[in-house]
Amino acid sequence: MERLTLTRPDDWHLHLRDGDILASVLPDTVRRFRRAIVMPNLKPPVTSVDAAAAYRDRILAALPDEADFEPLMTLYLTEETTPGMIDAARQSGFVHAVKLYPAGATTHSASGVTDIRRCYPVFEAMQQAGLPLLIHGEVTDPDVDIFDREAVFIERHLEPLVRDFPELRIVLEHVTTEAAVSFVESAPNNVGATITPQHLLYNRNALFAGGMRPHHFCLPILKRERHREALVRAATSGHPRFFLGTDSAPHPRHAKESACGCAGIYSAHAAIELYAEAFAAAGALDRLEGFASHHGADFYGMPRNTGTITLERAEWTVPEAVLFGHDPGVPLRAGETVAWRVAE
Ligand code: NCD
Ligand code: ZN
Repeated sequence: MERLTLTRPDDWHLHLRDGDILASVLPDTVRRFRRAIVMPNLKPPVTSVDAAAAYRDRILAALPDEADFEPLMTLYLTEETTPGMIDAARQSGFVHAVKLYPAGATTHSASGVTDIRRCYPVFEAMQQAGLPLLIHGEVTDPDVDIFDREAVFIERHLEPLVRDFPELRIVLEHVTTEAAVSFVESAPNNVGATITPQHLLYNRNALFAGGMRPHHFCLPILKRERHREALVRAATSGHPRFFLGTDSAPHPRHAKESACGCAGIYSAHAAIELYAEAFAAAGALDRLEGFASHHGADFYGMPRNTGTITLERAEWTVPEAVLFGHDPGVPLRAGETVAWRVAE
């Protein structure tokens, strides 16, 4: 059987939620990843170092016995975030980044930023402190077509930001377009990007295959095939500024299968396996380790992991549903097969 051993990977963009949902999703991530950048979009959002410390304690308390896993905490940027909070974050040792959500761009983003320029003093402090800025890069302007919101964000907001803060480390999260790929490729070395499994494996047809498919709805939304191809090229190119970030985001089935279904795809149950599929399809399995286990750590200036994980090419069927706390949820590929599995 074909086997592939990698340095243990990290997930540079993950939603763990809280309470009993946290407890039920954490084992999926811990089984595969050594570290994860934990998104702060709880209700209420994690806006202070104290809140991040308390959230981190809850994650550590929910870890399975003997788990070797480090949650890398983030702060949710609001227009009330101060440069002093950035210094406290840097000094904490456990806050590793700050997340910018344009207000209203996605799930739980109501407290996000309405005018990026108001955050300039905070970006200045982050640049000084060496704390990375993670960006949900979509405009929220209802006049902009939903499929164009990432490209317009890059033009309107990201290009000026990168110009104004030449030393600020910036991660454009979950990139979905050719425009984002070219932007990151031609940007200076302080700009990187994460890529999700769904954006490598699916295009927007998956949203409407035989009817509406709420379990393929996430933000930024799936794009055309040529964009998917550009993402596969970027991920498998060996370029050091593209790295793994699943954006795995659990939502109960009833919240997805609804007249106004919410955005977010759960992939933690098969994350590294799905990336392996995408890399195998591109004939680039030899590049998976860089993308999954090296580039992110290098970008964040953290040591690479020392352990390994072994994948084998063997089909398994994803359950129709899993439990997020007490509610059933529908994981990516539910009832279908995945071509790789994690060896015991
Ligand atoms: C995420 C969530 O559910 O928290 N949803 C999503 O579609 N990706 C939020 C986000 O990262 O945009
Ligand atoms: Zn996310």
